[in-house]
Amino acid sequence: MKINVGVFFGGRSVEHEISIISALQVIHSIDRNKYNVVPVYITKRGQFYTGNDLEDIQNYKDLDRLLSRSKQIVITNHDGEKVMTEYPASIFRKGRLGTLDVALPVVHGTNVEDGCLQGYLEMLDIPYAGCNVLSSALGMDKIAMRMVLKEAGLPVLDYVWFYSKRWFSDPTGVYADIESKLDYPLIVKPANSGSSVGITTADNREELEDALDLASRFSNRIIVEHKVVNLREINCSVLGDYEKALPSVCEEPISTEKILSYKDKYMNEGSKGMSGAARQLPANIPDDQTALIQDLAVKTFQVLDCSGVSRIDFLIDGDSGQVYVNEINTIPGSLSFYLWEATGKSFTELTEELIQLALKRTRERDNLVFSYDTNILAMKGKGGAKGLK
Ligand SMILES: Nc1ncnc2c1ncn2[C@@H]1O[C@H](COP(=O)(O)OP(=O)(O)O)[C@@H](O)[C@H]1O
Ligand SMILES: [Mg+2]
Repeated sequence: MKINVGVFFGGRSVEHEISIISALQVIHSIDRNKYNVVPVYITKRGQFYTGNDLEDIQNYKDLDRLLSRSKQIVITNHDGEKVMTEYPASIFRKGRLGTLDVALPVVHGTNVEDGCLQGYLEMLDIPYAGCNVLSSALGMDKIAMRMVLKEAGLPVLDYVWFYSKRWFSDPTGVYADIESKLDYPLIVKPANSGSSVGITTADNREELEDALDLASRFSNRIIVEHKVVNLREINCSVLGDYEKALPSVCEEPISTEKILSYKDKYMNEGSKGMSGAARQLPANIPDDQTALIQDLAVKTFQVLDCSGVSRIDFLIDGDSGQVYVNEINTIPGSLSFYLWEATGKSFTELTEELIQLALKRTRERDNLVFSYDTNILAMKGKGGAKGLK
């Protein structure tokens, strides 16, 4: 029997459309001889849909029509079977549309990639590919991620962080905090957005004010760090899990603006998402720097307890030669398949490994104890129902 793979995509995120592109690339790369592919599209309002029409990118131009030709579903766990049922229920039709054996999340951004979708799949007990709840959440949060990486001795830029509420109530304190710890030029980022949204640089206090106002519109937590002026950016993907993880070749994305923008990343060749962005591949850097970046990429991936395929982005300060981990994308655009093709692994092989890693994690998880079969509320005369709390 073929395994049913649910490819989950979309969601309430500014990167919704990028996710559609990434997911359709994945859907068309999975080996159909081994797997039944089930698209599960999450709308911007959080409704779940399935249906064959969701597999064609052209259909997304008229979303109302696409949804009217697809089926809205709810997913439930029936004695271990993960069943998709048509919603709303109809007395005239059998609502059961099929089952899912494993999920492949291909979502980007807040409310989905950050552990939300992963938590939903955990609750339903559906095996899923990629990072777990913790690593997804850490990967999305620029502050928490830096704290963990710094503690693990990995190189990150010095930073200052605070709640945006404090910026509004105590701007003098925030300026003092930033300027006592960091030198201009600075770069200001919302803690958890992506695709360069809400990020600006500041060469002086006036620009800092604007940058802080802008970032505050996107997150209630803000991070400010030193801006690397003589900058080179290098990305490296990692595939595996806590036991075994391999780095891909490195790429150097090519930007047309001061900082790598949404436009650079996605709008060069609209329908190709991240795989259509301009890049130097492999990156033209010395071998020892490639080796260092690959080593740091694997360490970052494993310290954060990542699984599946991630992309770790680095900043190189051309003046000092220092390499910094900038961020991890726990579900990278186009799943970084172009980096793996350049490393000698086809997109189909990549999706195969992701599914197998998901099943491996589930087998390991099944050996852990999550609950006891005894019901302490059914125990009589031992004070069971009184408990200790
Ligand atoms: N410390 C920095 N110094 C210089 N440029 C930076 C720095 N941090 C980020 N950038 C630029 O801003 C872009 C977006 O920042 P990043 O931290 O990667 O956020 P996002 O999650 O939105 O991709 C980077 O690709 C890089 O071009
Ligand atoms: Mg980035």
